[in-house]
Amino acid sequence: MGGFNVPNYRMNILICGGTGCKASGSSEVVETFEKEIEKAGLQNEIQVITTGCFGFCEKGPIVKITPDNVFYIEINKDKATKIVNEHIIKGRVVEEFLYKEPISEEILHEQTEMPFYKKQLRIALRNCGFIDLENIYEYIAADGYQALGKVLTEMTPEQVIDEIKRSGLRGRGGGGFPTGVKWEMTRKSNSDQKYVICNADEGDPGAFMDRSILEGDPHSVLEAMAICGYCIGADKGYIYIRAEYPLAIQRLRIAIKQAYELGLLGKNILGTNFNFDIDLKYGAGAFICGEETALINSIEGGRGEPTVKPPFPAQKGLWKKPTNINNVETFANICPIILKGADWFKSIGTEKSKGTKVFALAGKVNNVGLVEVPMGLTLREIIYDLGGGIKEGKKFKAVQTGGPSGGCIPVQHLDTPIDYDTLTQIGSMMGSGGMIVMDEDDCMVNIAKFYLEFTCDESCGRCTPCRVGNTRMLEILNEITEGKGTMEHLEELKELGQIIKDTSLCGLGQTSPNPVLSTMNFFWDEYVAHVKDKTCPAGVCTALLKYYILPEKCVGCTACAKVCPTNAISGEVRKTHVIDREKCIKCGACMATCRFNAITRR
Ligand SMILES: Cc1cc2nc3c(=O)[nH]c(=O)nc-3n(C[C@H](O)[C@H](O)[C@H](O)COP(=O)(O)O)c2cc1C
Ligand code: SF4
Ligand code: SF4
Ligand code: FES
Repeated sequence: MGGFNVPNYRMNILICGGTGCKASGSSEVVETFEKEIEKAGLQNEIQVITTGCFGFCEKGPIVKITPDNVFYIEINKDKATKIVNEHIIKGRVVEEFLYKEPISEEILHEQTEMPFYKKQLRIALRNCGFIDLENIYEYIAADGYQALGKVLTEMTPEQVIDEIKRSGLRGRGGGGFPTGVKWEMTRKSNSDQKYVICNADEGDPGAFMDRSILEGDPHSVLEAMAICGYCIGADKGYIYIRAEYPLAIQRLRIAIKQAYELGLLGKNILGTNFNFDIDLKYGAGAFICGEETALINSIEGGRGEPTVKPPFPAQKGLWKKPTNINNVETFANICPIILKGADWFKSIGTEKSKGTKVFALAGKVNNVGLVEVPMGLTLREIIYDLGGGIKEGKKFKAVQTGGPSGGCIPVQHLDTPIDYDTLTQIGSMMGSGGMIVMDEDDCMVNIAKFYLEFTCDESCGRCTPCRVGNTRMLEILNEITEGKGTMEHLEELKELGQIIKDTSLCGLGQTSPNPVLSTMNFFWDEYVAHVKDKTCPAGVCTALLKYYILPEKCVGCTACAKVCPTNAISGEVRKTHVIDREKCIKCGACMATCRFNAITRR
């Protein structure tokens, strides 16, 4: 590897370069800091670093100053200039740009004091927000490539596999299969050629865990893939990444080039006789291509359709050769396990789910972002302590975990410590880590419809239960939300859902009815209200809404009657108006016009 120098700066300005912060202008913030630091002649003392996602995307662009450990939020060009003039030059922290606790209004200087971070433990995200994502030396300075050095020079493949098995690490791509066992199976498959694949397809709506790891710490995945190659006897790896992730692709390309230049990929890695190459393969954004056998077909240039298992990829995978496929986050856990040991890793988490899990927290929660928490934290802790509770003080209704394969978890399960098994027991699943929070304004029938629409769009169509069954389920949901549902429809949904689960070929079909079945299980009354009373309690399904004029508020100004396109509103001036429901087309114009809030919708 040779020697290298990481220059010593007295202060670092770390600026988030994740997609979220970039979208809110962090590139301009970086430019401003660089310009202002140069203007002040401090470029040899103060380093400006673009990092990966800090997780607190809701409050981006994020800027952190070290070693002061001051954490600034929502920074723009002007604020950046002020930080240089005040904090960097005069040593005065600019309090107005710090995070303020919403309830106590206490101003918090450090990341570790903030409720969003207090219960987090960062293993997979350890370097995101800490190192310069385009500088391999920064990764090396953070113990990077030490694990690879250790396994190549001090450990046999069997010892490494044993360590991974003992750690209890389970696949983070959704299924939770024990990683060490998978590596062992691929190692034991005899072949002249084997492959390592990193699954970076990440198709769940709302999920961005894998993208953030690849954008913020690409070397951690490259290093782990090489370790996997050494263990299973492979000299070739592919990262299958969706083309919609341009920033992650760009950073991976830079990282791969740097790793080759330093002899950390390619031939005779670190002077040993181990060779390992990595190439990128691009997906076109089909959710089904995240399924491992469909992914393999896609890399081979075929249709992205799953094949029957067995044989498993560990036996017959890419080009019919034994192939180990792991998810990005799974790989991101490997190096810390090698360096800190299986005992350390398995001391974190629950009995059957060890370590941490990264979740993309989204929906009606105050702090939308990326969190990494020890397995076993409760949903309440994640949503209320880290997530800061429900937006606008509204009532929590449910949380969807596991994306389109998962289920909606209601309030009575908020205190369940989450791991792979508990989530399955309550009718959902861990999935890859999407966590979407819903409040009182969300209609659970409509939510189930949203996920089913997604699965119908993304089904490859190969097998009948998934192709036809899901389409029929969606038709029924449409009828229910349009006021044409019957109690027989509800029975049909349950029956069909079970058949699709039992008879579909791949995981997409086998899990696709979950959002419908779980919402029917926990929110049965809401389905019945749609079917029997023809109402949508959350006021979402437009076809079921009825507009009313509240007599106690109506002043008879006639404004509503004037805008109604169907002349459905009648009434004399200064007298209460009424709506003729036969004529009303539910356009909402009257409600938007009334200045006295006299029109309501139920
Ligand atoms: C429809 C479908 C989509 C999937 N999408 C992904 C994905 O985007 N990323 C991923 O890592 N695994 C995905 N999986 C799971 C993979 O098939 C496979 O189990 C996983 O990549 C194995 O890695 P792990 O053991 O590290 O979890 C998907 C599975 C199904 C059925
Ligand atoms: S279950 Fe659906 S996605 Fe899977 S193979 Fe069958 S049709 Fe395709
Ligand atoms: S909702 Fe539209 S159609 Fe119905 S009463 Fe109001 S303005 Fe008229
Ligand atoms: S993208 Fe900046 S904090 Fe997530």
